[in-house]
Amino acid sequence: MDKLLITGGNRLHGEIDVSGAKNAALPILCASLLTADAITLHNVPDLKDIGTTLKLLGQMGVKSEKSGRDSVTLSAAHVDRLEAPYELVKTMRASILVLGPLLARFGEARVSLPGGCAIGQRPVDQHIKGLEAMGADIRIEHGFVVAKASRLKGASIVTDMVTVTGTENLMMAAVLAEGRTTLENAAREPEVVDLAELLNKMGARIQGHGTDRIVIDGVERLHGATHQVIADRIEAGTFLCAVGATGGEITLRRAAPHTMGATLDKLQEAGMHIECGDDWIRGAMNARPRATGFRTAEYPGFPTDMQAQLMALNTIASGTAVIAENIFENRYMHVQELVRMGAMIDIDSHTAVVSGVEQLLGATVMATDLRASASLVIAGLAAQGDTTIERIYHLDRGYERMEEKLRAVGANIQRLTGKDA
Ligand code: EPU
Repeated sequence: MDKLLITGGNRLHGEIDVSGAKNAALPILCASLLTADAITLHNVPDLKDIGTTLKLLGQMGVKSEKSGRDSVTLSAAHVDRLEAPYELVKTMRASILVLGPLLARFGEARVSLPGGCAIGQRPVDQHIKGLEAMGADIRIEHGFVVAKASRLKGASIVTDMVTVTGTENLMMAAVLAEGRTTLENAAREPEVVDLAELLNKMGARIQGHGTDRIVIDGVERLHGATHQVIADRIEAGTFLCAVGATGGEITLRRAAPHTMGATLDKLQEAGMHIECGDDWIRGAMNARPRATGFRTAEYPGFPTDMQAQLMALNTIASGTAVIAENIFENRYMHVQELVRMGAMIDIDSHTAVVSGVEQLLGATVMATDLRASASLVIAGLAAQGDTTIERIYHLDRGYERMEEKLRAVGANIQRLTGKDA
């Protein structure tokens, strides 16, 4: 298993290209199931989760062809297996995103239930409730969601909580349904908006995306389209937290600063000097960061996917930060590892109190989930001495060539593979 070896203490300087957003690309790839025509996507990040999704779609009969560095063309003209097996779903919960499109286009789907995951229980009851409201007959059989419908019918759906993939699944189901669907309490995340924009290019009639009320008028069929995936706001925020912790100045190119308001505000509060253009962000940090408390919330609030990284920055800040994780019940697994590096963090239920220390000390630590891994990288870059991060397959699920990108701005970071690991 690969490991990362980081020797901390280098300030970061230079430019980094931000990749396409994982959490936009995943539903967008699944949207290819909605039409027999070709869908061409650009700015698709080269990630483990993207590979898993292409494999899942491939098993159903979807053809995909990569071209250039980050483009892929998908064709779902001959889909012959309407199933997502447990082996793939258990490695990537986002596989549930095939449920809506399969049911809408083929009237049938069999998708393994994802089960729990490291950051929390993460049920899919809202996906199911919404599809049932649209007339689907859904049963849980042998660990699978088995869904059938002749043609889905538009419905008025209010989800019990804001759910990102739930909104995406229901939106993809509704585009081919008969009549109008209204999704209330919808997720407003930029990734939901990006998916809606692709669907509209395919001939869907979606309005209100980006607000908490999305209105979808179903159409008979969709056609092919070309789309550029939006920049990854979480990857961009992770690099900014890294420079916040090490000091220095980096410029992020191909970024989408308009999607990053809450993160940029918090980094400014921590003392970072930030400048933005339409598609670039420059972050400079020349002093010790200031403690910056925050609460995670649905977009446009502070993203739960940035909680671990901003916590890492707070571990070496002056002062004490109070952090509340409000989206997932178990998303503090990085805390024990940060404590092993000398951080002072107390947790009480969903609140973490971080008392900044002058210096972290390198240690061997273990990555437990994707964003936890990123927080350990940030801590390792700022720490004195060597940090070894084990189980970085979590990192590879969601960050494209992270160590290369960091090395290019001056970090001392290397991947140990095979016998070196
Ligand atoms: N929830 C339910 N029932 C449902 C759906 C959600 O109880 O049917 C709960 C969840 O358990 C959670 C809350 O609602 O407590 C919000 O979960 P949501 O459904 O929004 O999460 P998700 O769609 O499964 C996506 C991202 C996550 C990100 C969350 C929150 C993708 C593929 N995943 O997950 O990304 O943390 O939204 O913003 O878009 C990551 O990239 O590291 C990651 C975990």
